[in-house]
Amino acid sequence: MSIATTPTSRGRRSSLLSRLRPRLLETLTTPHAVDRYLELVDPMMTVDDMRAEVVAVRHQTPDTVTLTLRPTWQWKGFAAGHFVQIGVVVDGVRHTRCYSPAGTAGTDDDTIELTVKAQPDGIVSNYLVASAKPGLVVNLAPATGTFELPSPRPDHVLLISGGSGITPVMSMLRTLVHEGYTGRVAFLHYAYTENDVCYRAELDRIAAENDNVDVLYAYTDQQNGGHLHGFFDTEHLNVAAPWHASAQTFLCGPPGLMKGVRSVFDELGLSESLFSEEFVTAVPVVDGDASGTVSFSGSSVEAENDGATLLEQAENAGLTPEFGCRMGICFTCTAIKKSGCTRNVKTGELDSDPDNEIQLCISVPVGDVDIDV
Ligand code: FES
Repeated sequence: MSIATTPTSRGRRSSLLSRLRPRLLETLTTPHAVDRYLELVDPMMTVDDMRAEVVAVRHQTPDTVTLTLRPTWQWKGFAAGHFVQIGVVVDGVRHTRCYSPAGTAGTDDDTIELTVKAQPDGIVSNYLVASAKPGLVVNLAPATGTFELPSPRPDHVLLISGGSGITPVMSMLRTLVHEGYTGRVAFLHYAYTENDVCYRAELDRIAAENDNVDVLYAYTDQQNGGHLHGFFDTEHLNVAAPWHASAQTFLCGPPGLMKGVRSVFDELGLSESLFSEEFVTAVPVVDGDASGTVSFSGSSVEAENDGATLLEQAENAGLTPEFGCRMGICFTCTAIKKSGCTRNVKTGELDSDPDNEIQLCISVPVGDVDIDV
């Protein structure tokens, strides 16, 4: 796995700030952290907090924005496929969301490229698409995740994406090309129409310049143009990568695409070679027959189970549990279920073991549940 090294261009600031760390400084600034004072001078001058400044903004499609961010000295790079959490203040409230860098991993480039698609009711995504400008400073958490290219690289690679799920696999493709990878690569991307494809010019250029790379566009709402039409099926797979049985496949996109690809790979007995990341919030169906009481025993608060996720039920009860992605990938919202049964809305699995860790954002109670929040 290739990980970008700490960029040298921030070295001087890094060493200055690390020398600023002595206990004396912390003592002088108590009860506030040093960064609370430094940010009054420059929000990018931090000792502890990692932040990033937006240095470029471009709109590839009407409902997306591609941001280039320059992180502070604490940034240690990312692996292709990983995600980062950014914290953005919207109307005075800081919201945290996860996005996957689309750039090439393992280079000296010290920037992070994120492409964000506006989502219905998406507070952060709508704000960024409409209002992000160079100079905007966001909070940043280190890159992490289990979705990544293995090392050594597989013999052949199939990348499948849909909509804004293109970003982690774009990073994988850019990284493979940068490394001079010689195995076969197929990049199969699903979009409503050709106007909804981000990175199209670059993808076409990569395919033209690399004999081992095929790029195919599949349009679900457009019957002409592109290479394939409609939804993923075995035929699409055979057209895109007839050699798929000897490849490792990396998939990221909306739930419908994920489900379709998983079911084809299951039928073919290839599920072990399929790796996926879901970057779209699983929308829980609020259960009209929900029953029981949710006890947030850490706060001595109780609520009638209304069938929503435990994160939403806690917030509706006036609690403020920590959360990040609200889509089950960052584990920020993890809490102990002391008793009762919960259902994972992404997998449908039931969990009735006591004292188990669950993710509040993707768990709904089934009857009486006690959560340590
Ligand atoms: S908030 Fe990220 S997993 Fe729940």
